[in-house]
Amino acid sequence: MSDTERRPVLEVSGFSLKFSRSAAMPNLVDNVSFAVGSGETLCIVGESGCGKSVTSLALMGLLASPPAQRVSGTAVFDGKDLFTLTERELADIRGNRLSMIFQEPMTSLNPAFTVGEQIGESVRRHRGVDRAEARAQALEMLRLVRIPAPETRLDAYPHQLSGGMRQRVMIAMALANRPRLLIADEPTTALDVTIQAQVLALIRNLQAETGTAMVLITHDLGVVAEVADHVAVMYAGRIVEYGTVADLFDDPQHPYTIGLMGAIPSTGKREGSLATIRGSVPSPEQMPDGCRFAPRCPFAAQRCIDAAPPDQPIAGVHRVACWLAPVEQSAPGAGQYQAAPMRKEVA
Ligand SMILES: Nc1ncnc2c1ncn2[C@@H]1O[C@H](COP(=O)(O)OP(=O)(O)O)[C@@H](O)[C@H]1O
Ligand code: SF4
Ligand SMILES: [Mg+2]
Repeated sequence: MSDTERRPVLEVSGFSLKFSRSAAMPNLVDNVSFAVGSGETLCIVGESGCGKSVTSLALMGLLASPPAQRVSGTAVFDGKDLFTLTERELADIRGNRLSMIFQEPMTSLNPAFTVGEQIGESVRRHRGVDRAEARAQALEMLRLVRIPAPETRLDAYPHQLSGGMRQRVMIAMALANRPRLLIADEPTTALDVTIQAQVLALIRNLQAETGTAMVLITHDLGVVAEVADHVAVMYAGRIVEYGTVADLFDDPQHPYTIGLMGAIPSTGKREGSLATIRGSVPSPEQMPDGCRFAPRCPFAAQRCIDAAPPDQPIAGVHRVACWLAPVEQSAPGAGQYQAAPMRKEVA
């Protein structure tokens, strides 16, 4: 897919956020930039606590502020900066041109309404169709997401459905209005492996049909390999490496990315949940001043502790924030690194 010809559906630039007014507190999300075009999938990967959900919630205008505080940045969607929209304008595009699928469907499905009512309500609100038409469209969506016996399921309540089924309902709801952009935050994590694959295939098919752009947050590199056009690796609130799938898998440059890649089991990549890299993501209070990965990085040197590494262009869209980049993959350091201390058993 071409990077330059297409005007992005969403372009996030220099986005920073914190959960405190204190100037002394570091940004929880720091200077994040990425773009995604029509029909494209951008995957954001990183361990738990890296700021992926916070970023997506902020884009959707779903992060309570206060306590959240945007420090800088823009998020241009369909020509308008999402961060400057009023609550009313946001409500107008959410679930319509801009949709989101969450990890846990029960948090976003209303237990008091049937599946048909919930999908139908979204269609009615945004499309101004009558009840009968909304119900017909809800039924069509249930068919599209391949829910068995959709006529019956239309009148089921969320608790009457299995987890996989509820996730399909979420997808049906999210895509009912043919959004320009879908933000999916770990949409398949709670599902078993077979269902995960089905749900992902489903999202991709629908995406291909509708040209929807997708930001897919996942910690599963198997998923990334399957669905991503571009990948942003996020660590402690920063994008440490960005590139195409080929860039990231064939020529990972950041020690963190290399650590993640090194932990994919060569067989059964589906189970390749994120590496258990030694140590953990720093809490917001303990964010290091320089490179945020320094405390876990076997290559950390004084300059890494003194100052955050700037983005280093590699080739094409590939960029890396590490003082060592660019590194030759054949260099002894790279191989040594992969074999060495951070690698542990993959869960
Ligand atoms: N409402 C909040 N107030 C303060 N800190 C928060 C809030 N929500 C999330 N955080 C913090 O933001 C960081 C990133 O969280 P999150 O975006 O959920 O990570 P991820 O989705 O990558 O696992 C974590 O350190 C978390 O504790
Ligand atoms: S900048 Fe230094 S500490 Fe950070 S990842 Fe690169 S080598 Fe490691
Ligand atoms: Mg999350």
